[in-house]
Amino acid sequence: MHRSDVRKAVIPAAGLGTRFLPATKASPKEMLPLVDKPLIQYAVEEAVASGIEDIIVITGRGKRAIEDHFDRSVELEENLKGNGKGQLLSQIRHISSLANFCYIRQSEALGLGHAVLCAQRLIGDEPFAVILGDEIIDADVPGLAQLIHTYKKRNGAVLGVQTVPHQEVNRYGIVSPRPIMERLHEVADLVEKPSPSDAPSNLAVIGRYVLPPEIFPILRKTRPGKNGEIQLTDALKELSKASPMYALEVQGQRYDAGDKLGFLIATVEFALKNPSLGSEFGEYLRERMVPAKGARRTRTGKA
Ligand code: UTP
Repeated sequence: MHRSDVRKAVIPAAGLGTRFLPATKASPKEMLPLVDKPLIQYAVEEAVASGIEDIIVITGRGKRAIEDHFDRSVELEENLKGNGKGQLLSQIRHISSLANFCYIRQSEALGLGHAVLCAQRLIGDEPFAVILGDEIIDADVPGLAQLIHTYKKRNGAVLGVQTVPHQEVNRYGIVSPRPIMERLHEVADLVEKPSPSDAPSNLAVIGRYVLPPEIFPILRKTRPGKNGEIQLTDALKELSKASPMYALEVQGQRYDAGDKLGFLIATVEFALKNPSLGSEFGEYLRERMVPAKGARRTRTGKA
């Protein structure tokens, strides 16, 4: 097999989702619906559209709904068939045929780096992708496909990045870049959640990675860092010292749907783009924002 083929993707989904409590107390954050699909389905569809065949989901306690979502649902299928709902039936069947799914339990949320390490045996000795499902990228060319393209050309780890406002750098892993060409940089260094005064740039890692298997022995040695978690950023920093690493500015609109405000913004944007809901929803929003003089009723009937 050619070393630059990227066939497997890891989707870490074992985090506690504390930014979205109380919704995430007993339900996985990854199953929050963006209009009519759970967040994790967008990640899986992006991976599949980027050429990925095997999806390895890292799960934890309270995450069983994720496995059920990507499994067949025979009872539901029979019901839809019996009621002549053919279109819904094919949509539902399609979900379970998107890719080959494997699940690994991370028994304790020890950090993103630890979650990725859990996939080592299933990845073996080949390059692989990591997608964080709460970062949604709406792009003409799928975000991950952009990274895989660069990986094939450069044969070194590729991190997806985008510029963020300077005052928000403390929410991300930030790269210290050496520009190579338009949108592509070599990574000289990486810092996890720096304060704005210490940040080497405003290029933030946005939850898309293509990594070589050499990351695993480094992750195994990585000690807990910020927040007592095994940080993927710390291992990437080590890897960047040993082999070339690239940061690609991903083209597309990114939404942080693991955050309440980011999730609401993504919901509005995806609803407006939805072919069966968009125009009515847009009309509702216009009415809601600029009520006609004297008319206090909205489509919900509330003042
Ligand atoms: P986040 O820190 O964004 O997610 O981790 P979280 O921990 O679920 O959410 P908050 O910050 O508390 O609200 C990035 C990704 O890594 C996964 C998460 O599921 C998320 O997709 N993760 C994090 C794990 O799989 N295991 C961990 O131990 C930590």
